Amino acid sequence: MRGIEQIEDLKGKTVIVRVDFNVPIKNGAVSDDFRIRAALPTINFLLEKGAKLLLVTHLGKDGRDRLDPVIKCFFAISKIAENRVTFFENIRKFPGEINNDPTFAKELSTKGDIYVNDAFSVSHREHASVVLLPKLLPSYAGFQLTKEVENLSRAFKSPEHPFLFILGGAKFSTKMPLIEKYLKLADHVFVGGALANDFLKAKGCEVGKSLVDATNYGIETILENKKLILPVDVLVQSEGLLINKKVEEVGKDDVILDIGNRSVENLALLIGKSKLVLWNGPLGKYEDGGDKSTQKVLELVAKSKAESIIGGGDTVSLISEMKMEERFSFVSTGGGATLDFLANGTLPGIKALE
Ligand code: 3PG
Repeated sequence: MRGIEQIEDLKGKTVIVRVDFNVPIKNGAVSDDFRIRAALPTINFLLEKGAKLLLVTHLGKDGRDRLDPVIKCFFAISKIAENRVTFFENIRKFPGEINNDPTFAKELSTKGDIYVNDAFSVSHREHASVVLLPKLLPSYAGFQLTKEVENLSRAFKSPEHPFLFILGGAKFSTKMPLIEKYLKLADHVFVGGALANDFLKAKGCEVGKSLVDATNYGIETILENKKLILPVDVLVQSEGLLINKKVEEVGKDDVILDIGNRSVENLALLIGKSKLVLWNGPLGKYEDGGDKSTQKVLELVAKSKAESIIGGGDTVSLISEMKMEERFSFVSTGGGATLDFLANGTLPGIKALE
């Protein structure tokens, strides 16, 4: 990828910057500005070199959301004068974006002279502003995109050992390739969150009314792998109470919300021994009271001497809320994009810049 520092002359040029300001909005305001802050070094660099900027982002899935709260937040935190940056409308408002329509991309390309991608977190999408636009204009990678590629690559390009991979969250189907890959690359793979329910079920444990994935992805074949570490106890909601139970004691009506205390202790030992910790996805259902283990383990990783690379929308929101970003080696802005990059080593939006 060519970086933006290689652009020869920016004076008076209009740069279309694809950013990902798809940020959470609560009560009409941005509740987590991590992604916006992450794009500021690129934006400030281009402005200092005399460029005019057209920022292109999506917000929400279907393009119906208005960008007003995002724009307000952007100008408030960046302190950039409003006449120096223009926002394009929510790009997903145009069907040509998601349909990856060449005519739409062509039209969009007439609005600038240069294209910059600083939107790692949407670079897994084959959308017009991500994969077609860079083919129509001189195209470059922004600082955040480059940082994401460099840092996340450390997980699969000669990682430091002992290497611990912690994987949580749900959506088993998107995570199975990652588990298989990192069982080869890492020394230990700890599985928590709703993903662990599927493993526990496959092992023959009762998981009660907990969230499980109905599809069989061949878990049995990896259950025997010695590198795989599962929770030994869990926090369950049982008859209105939250109880820490061994995995063998979960009842038919229980709902697993989090990994348990012993499991956190086991993880603490592994973290203490590791030189590299890669973590994606929360360990519990934190919106229902299953947030404690994720918080405790974040603290353990932050305090450890290990190099730490953290990704996944939910975990990162929590880090941002807890104001812990600076305490990890790298915090990725990506959700699905981080998972895809860790699994495949590249993304469509990155390939389009080559
Ligand atoms: C994200 O939030 O992960 C990115 O903005 C991509 O959004 P999408 O899943 O709606 O494509």
